Amino acid sequence: MARLDVTETFDGITFPGHLHTQDTLRYAVNFKFEDTDTLIVTYPKSGTTWMQEIVTLVSCGGDPLRAQTQPNWARAPWLEQYYCPHVLNASQGPRILTTHLPHHLLSTALQGSKAKVIYVARNPKDVAVSYYYFHKMAKFLPEPGPFSDFLNDFVDGAVNYGSWFDHVKGWTSNAGNIHNFLYVTYEDMWQDLHGSLERVSRFLQCPLGEEELASAERSCSFSSMRTNSMVNYTLVPKEIMDHSKGQFMRKGKIGDWVNIFSKDQSHSFDGVYASKMADCSLAFVWQNPEETTSLNSRTDAELPTRQAA
Ligand code: A3P
Repeated sequence: MARLDVTETFDGITFPGHLHTQDTLRYAVNFKFEDTDTLIVTYPKSGTTWMQEIVTLVSCGGDPLRAQTQPNWARAPWLEQYYCPHVLNASQGPRILTTHLPHHLLSTALQGSKAKVIYVARNPKDVAVSYYYFHKMAKFLPEPGPFSDFLNDFVDGAVNYGSWFDHVKGWTSNAGNIHNFLYVTYEDMWQDLHGSLERVSRFLQCPLGEEELASAERSCSFSSMRTNSMVNYTLVPKEIMDHSKGQFMRKGKIGDWVNIFSKDQSHSFDGVYASKMADCSLAFVWQNPEETTSLNSRTDAELPTRQAA
């Protein structure tokens, strides 16, 4: 399935035709969840691969074998991508699934289900930057052109997978309608990976001892994942992801947006954010500029550990 230049439009949202068809999107929308399923939900570039690694490691009691021998798309397939039915047919045991679909497309399928849903969100400015660089290497996404143009499209929701604002609001405002829901941010994982692993292990009811946690933490550090071919996408051929144009595991930082956004872009984004998120009751860590600034000025080793909620 090459279709590198094809774009699928489904319910007004565009998806890369390399991975999606009308049929695969319909399959996702009508998916039959099982109560033992774990569903990782993200807007692209929000820490999907990281959470896939965390859930894999937690489910394996911290043992890195599976994470080091099976590609992430084979152990936590995206519901809406064409190979999902094949992967699920060939696998056994509780399923780990991933999706970038907005809430309204999955709300019916999830109704009444006890599947465990983990929603990961990230500072949208960092998402926009990460997404921009991903467009440069991923040949199934359109050439992004200058960052200013890409940012305008991102703000307008005129990018693949739709609007970041609608995605985050849709999932978080419907959290109460989902039987088992965990909300985690990329920033939580970055500031306190240990605590985030504990939260996920409690949520999945897979308690880990200190040694197992330490092993999981080592395996899902940025440096470890960057060199793990099962998650860094180096297994994907150059015609589909051109690694000479950038790395999938690019920087793995919080607040990298300051290096790309101009002051005007940042100011204007803040205005759009304030109006589009006005009806969202969640307070996000990136809304506190003092915290973000102080986090940026510290090295990984200096970062505080936060008690898991
Ligand atoms: P950057 O492009 O900012 O580096 P996704 O998996 O949703 O596509 O998100 C990819 C982003 O998550 C990339 O961000 C990648 O570097 C980052 N990421 C993946 N694993 C990470 C880890 N263990 N620690 C920090 N960042 C990680």
